[in-house]
Formats: sequence, C-alpha cells, structure tokens
Amino acid sequence: MKNRKILVTGGAGFIGSHVIRRLVNRYSDYHIYNLDALTYAGNPENLIDVENSLNYSFVKGDITDENLINDLFSNYRFDSVIHLAAESHVDRSIKDPLAFVKTNIIGTINLLNAFKNLWNGDFEDKLFYHISTDEVYGTLGDEGLFTEETSYDPNSPYSASKASSDHFVRAYGETYELPYVISNCSNNYGPNQFPEKLIPLFINNIIAMKPLPVYGDGNYTRDWLYVIDHATAIDDIFHKSNLHETYNIGGFNEIKNIDLVKQLCDIMDKKLNRQIGTSQQLITFVKDRPGHDYRYAIDASKIKEDLGWKPSVTFSEGLNKTVDWYLDNKKWLDNVTSGSYRSYYKEHYKL
Ligand code: NAD
Ligand code: TYD
Repeated sequence: MKNRKILVTGGAGFIGSHVIRRLVNRYSDYHIYNLDALTYAGNPENLIDVENSLNYSFVKGDITDENLINDLFSNYRFDSVIHLAAESHVDRSIKDPLAFVKTNIIGTINLLNAFKNLWNGDFEDKLFYHISTDEVYGTLGDEGLFTEETSYDPNSPYSASKASSDHFVRAYGETYELPYVISNCSNNYGPNQFPEKLIPLFINNIIAMKPLPVYGDGNYTRDWLYVIDHATAIDDIFHKSNLHETYNIGGFNEIKNIDLVKQLCDIMDKKLNRQIGTSQQLITFVKDRPGHDYRYAIDASKIKEDLGWKPSVTFSEGLNKTVDWYLDNKKWLDNVTSGSYRSYYKEHYKL
C-alpha cells in the first residue's frame, strides 16, 4: 500500500532508531511519525541523519498519556502502528516494576484503544505491529529452542510486563478483530544501544579500564542478533506477514556470557593496541541477578521459511562492527554516560 501513515513508538531508542532510519530511507511515500517520551534511553542524536527528512516527524510524548494518544490518533489518523516504546532493562525492572507496568502494559493498552476507536471496525489495510521479546517464554535448560508455540512463562517484572502486553494485543485481535502481528526477538546488539545492557556496558568499561561485572558464574546463555538484522525482519514482517501471526526472530547464535565477554575483550585489545589479555583481567564475577534466566535460544525457522528473512552478518562480524561504532562515536557514549547514568551505575554495581 502506498502513502502509509505509520506511528512508530520508541523510535529514539536503540532498536526503534534503526527501524525509523530504514523506513524513512526506503519508503519515501510513507510518512513516519516517531512518538517517544525521551526517557533516559531515548536519544534524538540517534536519528540526526534523518531528522530533516520530509517523510519524518518527531513527537515528544508519553504513551501512558491517554489524552495525548487519543488526540494524536484523531489528528494524524495513523493507518499503522509499529510499537517499540518500552521500559526494556531487566535490572531496572527488578528495582521498579511499576514503571514497567505503566509503560509496557498501560501504554500498550492506550495505543490499542486509540487505534481501535479511530478505525471502529474499518480495519482494511490497517495494522498494529507489536514488538516483543523472547524473554516472555521464560528460561530454557541446556537443550531446546523457543518456538512460536512455546508457552509464556515470564520470570522478571520486565518479561511479565511484555508478556501481558502481548496478551492484550492478541485479546484485542480476538475480541475486536483488531489487525495485529507480534514478533518476539532475541537479545539485540549493535550501534546506539544504551550502555546499561551487557555489550555496550562492557565496551564502555573496557575503554575506561573499569571492572567488567559478570553476574553469577557467567554460564548464562543468550542468543544474539545484530540490530540492523532485527530492523530488516521488522520491515519484512510489517510488509509480508499475514494478520494475527507471531514470528520469533533470532540469529541461531547462542553464546555463554563469559565466552562473549572474553571474545569482546580480545577484539578490543586488538583495536585499542593493548596486549592481548589486558581486558580479560578486568572480568569481575559479581552477585547474580535475582531470578536470572539461564538460557534463551530462538528457533527462527518460521520467519525464514515464510518470509525468506535471514541475518546478514555473523556474530563475529556484528561484534566487530559494533566495537568500531562505539570507538568512532566516543562523543555519543560520553553524552549518554553523564548525569543520571552515573548514579544508576554507582547504585546498581557499587563498583
Ligand atoms: P530502549 O530502552 O533502547 O528504547 C526504548 C524507547 O522507548 C526509548 O526511546 C524511550 O525514550 C521510549 N519510551 C520509554 N517509555 C516510553 C513512554 N512511556 N512513552 C513513549 N516512549 C517511551 O529499548 P530497545 O532495546 O530499543 O527495545 C525496543 C523494543 O524492542 C522494546 O519493546 C523491547 O521490549 C523490544 N525488544 C528489545 C530487545 C533488545 O535486546 N534490546 C530484544 C527483543 C525485543
Ligand atoms: P542484558 O544485556 O541486560 O540483557 P537481558 O537481561 O535482557 O538478556 O544481559 C545479558 C546477559 O548478561 C544476561 O544474562 C545478564 C548478563 N549481564 C551481566 O553478567 N552483567 C551485567 O552487568 C549485565 C548488564 C548483564
């Protein structure tokens, strides 16, 4: 369909900014509206290269503000929503679950209601695309993969809030015939990720020769996907998926945290001209995260078979590109690691 008016929520964040860049640059006949509250994780600098594009508009606003959301939908009449805005960090959810309930659950319901009320059953060529996480499935043991049929079993306040929002989206599909799709992606990494998540936090600490706080014994496993490959998958799902589908997105790319951290240390030693082994000495085992999920791993065969999507880079290529980006963008890193970031870091890690 031509001339779409797409509301992207959370577009100033990590994944959202890559999604916006892709849509703005690829679809000149679409208009992309980015609604973002600019919390600590939202950064307009992430979109500096597209901010003056004619098919892009930024609106600063909070998805928990029901009146604002209703006004925006009636003024702009969005035919589609790609909903990424969320509180997204597990450690923060352990400290303040209610913030996650407000944004991830109430915020999602506000968007669903505004979309439903605007189109009032006339849903032809309309789409509500909800971006979710594999963490809703809970944890795996040493074997097996999450498929789209795996039961939800969330363990953290973050994943419980995302699971709840997924359920509401599905419930609106069943109850009001709201046209939706949902995707559940594995851990992302890449440029513009806020340095509270494992990879950018450790890149930042390696640059500064600060301790690398590995939780527990480091044997926890995550399945990593380069963020630009996630943005490609979102584009494919948005354009090609049937309604009421769910897709798991992942790179078949599992690695134990401790092995990842060692690989990262060695890449950075080379790039920083440090003797190999220097950064590994910064590894510090710290108290485990409560309720820490042991292993995530995604079976991404459905999206591959149905839509022909596959990741474009290997983990090693993606990690090298990511490190290069952070080394080339020290100013970005310095800007986001000032102020409230410092107090969060100090309080959480006590390092
Ligand atoms: P992020 O924390 O980097 O960005 C979130 C964005 O949402 C920020 O720009 C923030 O300002 C905005 N936001 C937060 N609360 C808001 C509110 N109340 N109103 C409006 N805007 C608000 O997150 P991310 O890593 O880019 O994740 C984006 C989405 O993808 C989330 O829904 C997350 O659950 C999901 N996801 C993330 C990952 C991952 O590894 N990062 C993996 C799978 C799914
Ligand atoms: P994170 O990037 O927070 O993503 P998620 O919890 O959503 O998977 O963490 C990735 C893994 O790294 C997870 O097993 C927790 C671990 N981790 C550490 O060991 N130390 C840290 O300082 C952080 C932030 C994470």
